[in-house]
Amino acid sequence: MMSIRKFVALFFFLTISNVLSQVRNFEDIINLRAEQAYKYLIANISRSDTPKGFIVASPSKVDPDYYYHWVRDAALVMRSLSLILPTNNQFYLRQVNQYASLESNHQKISKLSDQGEPKFNPDGTSFKGPWGRPQNDGPALRSAYFSNIALAKAAKGDLNYLKKFYAPNLPARSLLKIDFEYVSHKWNNPDFDLWEEIQGQHFYTRMVQHHSLKLAAEVATISKDIGAKSWYLSQSEKIENSLNDHVKEDKIIRATVKRVGGLDSKHSQLDSSVILAVLHTDRIEGHLSITSEEIQKTFITLDQTFKKLYPINQKKVIRNNKNRYLPTLATAIGRYPEDSFFGGNPWYLLTSTFAEYCYRQAAFWKKQSSTSQFNSFHKKSQSMISKFLNLRGNPSAQDFYRAWKNKGDQYLARVLYHVDDAGHQAEQMDKVNGHFKGANDLTWSYAAYLSAVHHRKLLQKQNRR
Ligand code: NOJ
Ligand code: NOJ
Repeated sequence: MMSIRKFVALFFFLTISNVLSQVRNFEDIINLRAEQAYKYLIANISRSDTPKGFIVASPSKVDPDYYYHWVRDAALVMRSLSLILPTNNQFYLRQVNQYASLESNHQKISKLSDQGEPKFNPDGTSFKGPWGRPQNDGPALRSAYFSNIALAKAAKGDLNYLKKFYAPNLPARSLLKIDFEYVSHKWNNPDFDLWEEIQGQHFYTRMVQHHSLKLAAEVATISKDIGAKSWYLSQSEKIENSLNDHVKEDKIIRATVKRVGGLDSKHSQLDSSVILAVLHTDRIEGHLSITSEEIQKTFITLDQTFKKLYPINQKKVIRNNKNRYLPTLATAIGRYPEDSFFGGNPWYLLTSTFAEYCYRQAAFWKKQSSTSQFNSFHKKSQSMISKFLNLRGNPSAQDFYRAWKNKGDQYLARVLYHVDDAGHQAEQMDKVNGHFKGANDLTWSYAAYLSAVHHRKLLQKQNRR
């Protein structure tokens, strides 16, 4: 007789091989993995032993213990859900309300670092152990998320969310006002970066704070809170100017300036969070945007640095049944070259984010093809980009579009190469053997993958027009 265990194992093996046998091409793999990613992401929300709306960063409770609700991770996960689910999806609408109540509670309970408190316990209290705090990107990301929902509804004439989330009264008591006040008064104070390691002023944090206050001005305008509107605008302009502190002569963005504490090992100041910053704030064109010379240069430099640094990026990929539909693999991307967390490895979420960056570049170039504007576009950085994308001669907008799209597919293929048979992702992939490292089923890894796939789909829709 077969033991129950063996039977269950065989059952799963058969289901998985059955599912995989339906995969006929790269598109099928992308979609299969997206369905699985969605399932694992949802499993990390409102778990039976956490409050409603609570999003664990990962189900892992030891080595590392990620069984907390991080303000940053949660806001980014919700952002991805808002991209992939229809606005009237019942599950999503319930989650928005539960997440709003949970965060509103988090804002009011006792904490060691006000609204910059990075993470909360599953029993609803704030985490009070030693930690890098405050982390001020959290309230900026959270308020940008809720503003976008409220503004989208308001644009359709429905002011309910706006009224629920924002009230002009001071001292602030509403979800958005509390965050806007905190961001607008505290942005100039040193805090810990999104990797929770360095205390200083960070490009990523500044970018999301700027984004939050721009939205704050819109929310205040509709709410007829005119004094607040000009205050938020004036602070957002100051933040925008402070971004220049991060740009040096070589045009490569420095992640942190004015360091006052925390780790002191990031000598290169090169960091993938710069790419997260432009994507999380939807800066497509203009100063320090996806298509700016500085960001493109930083992107390419990061890719080239990680390519040399991680052994898996040099390994010859052996073709087998499992990966036969994947295109060439691009570089697996880490946080920053000096990283030593779990030995310092590439991250799933960052590699997916690099794919998204390429798809959004492709979307930009797709639009340019009907105009002649691209001819004078970034002449200075053009040759570096052409080389990176393997483009020869005098590439057209259409060539750039295709090359960025292919590059995006190659980053996505890198992620797909390192998922397991059931489509699980972890936090990191071992830089030597490519196996899971760090927290398993990291919610943010799934969110970043789904967001990349979403932007790839948008590109295809744009194609058919
Ligand atoms: C935990 C943090 O979350 C992680 O980002 C950091 O690298 C390690 N602590 C080491 O400081
Ligand atoms: C460590 C990462 O550095 C940080 O950005 C993240 O918020 C936590 N892990 C939780 O996922």
